[in-house]
Amino acid sequence: MSLITHPNARELTKSVRATVLVFKDPRSQELLSRIERLAPSEANTLIIGETGTGKELVARHIHHLSRRGREPFVAVNCGAFAETLVESELFGHEKGAFTGATANKAGWFEAANGGTLFLDEIGDLPLNMQVKLLRVLQEREVVRLGSRTPIPINVRLVAATNVNLADAVVAGHFREDLFYRLHVATIRLPPLRERPGDILPLAEFFIEEHCRRLGYERASLSPDAERKLLAHSWPGNIRELENAIHHALLVCRQQKVAPQDLHLVDMRPQSSAALAVSQPGLTSPVNTAPSLESALLALFEQNLPNLFDHIEEVVFREAYRYCHGNQLQTGRLLDISRNIVRARLEKIGELSSSVRNPEN
Ligand SMILES: Nc1ncnc2c1ncn2[C@@H]1O[C@H](COP(=O)(O)OP(=O)(O)OP(=O)(O)O)[C@@H](O)[C@H]1O
Ligand SMILES: [Mg+2]
Repeated sequence: MSLITHPNARELTKSVRATVLVFKDPRSQELLSRIERLAPSEANTLIIGETGTGKELVARHIHHLSRRGREPFVAVNCGAFAETLVESELFGHEKGAFTGATANKAGWFEAANGGTLFLDEIGDLPLNMQVKLLRVLQEREVVRLGSRTPIPINVRLVAATNVNLADAVVAGHFREDLFYRLHVATIRLPPLRERPGDILPLAEFFIEEHCRRLGYERASLSPDAERKLLAHSWPGNIRELENAIHHALLVCRQQKVAPQDLHLVDMRPQSSAALAVSQPGLTSPVNTAPSLESALLALFEQNLPNLFDHIEEVVFREAYRYCHGNQLQTGRLLDISRNIVRARLEKIGELSSSVRNPEN
């Protein structure tokens, strides 16, 4: 198995997990050699992959393998800050630059100076910030908000996205010039279902790690459990696999993980059909509608952001559609007042002024 350990990664990340990468499938090994070739170059790098495929882990690995490995690695989620805050977070500010700026503060670029700045979810960066980011990349200097003095910076940028940035460019959400600037070196992390040779090594790896952490004796997978893992389509990728293993270890008996200990929910109809074909007897009939519990479980395993808001939004939107856009009926269906229905629909942007009709 290809295991890579970072000798000083623990100080960098505090997470045991992030110190080891499992790359066993031929596709992953190819990818690894590409990562190793790209890492020592100074090129800005764009990592593209579905949620949970290991984008951040790969970014840390690139940093570690580069000449900057002993310098700071700063990871920032571009979607985590209010639009008004992004600029001062990225570029820093001087005391008095805006209400609440009570002291001088360095931004992420300065914090990462000499090292690597990892901009996660780069597609969430507001357009006006994209312009400023591009300028920083071109000029290699930042100017803190409220200051006029440029500060030279020496930072390698690694960005990650789980949306197709080329589509975002076409849709006008992402600047084409910045896209090309980032696109110099790209790493596509395939979803776990496209590198099946990684599934069992990763499962073993997580079993070992979680058993150690939980103080359990080392557990093992039954052959049927292995088959079940191999047949699943892993919409939440490696993170979903890790959660499934963690859960299975908590419920399994005598250190043996059986298929029923693995809670895997597949919401894609075509893959549940494939699952039923490849392992008859292990799954419920294909045409059984997924229960609310199993749908929720699948969502939990994907570790989505703002999960509660998302679920609430889906409930209101679907009920409203079901009632053909009638607020009164939607309220009756959900057994809540129409005022609440209207407020929620407004919040999620389902109501334009033309349909905000009190008779409706
Ligand atoms: N090759 C690997 N070997 C071992 N563990 C891995 C590997 N790839 C990912 N992981 C683990 O899987 C989890 C998800 O990885 P990571 O956070 O890097 O994914 P991500 O692509 O950034 O996800 P998201 O899009 O949700 O932010 C982490 O716990 C990470 O340690
Ligand atoms: Mg991530």
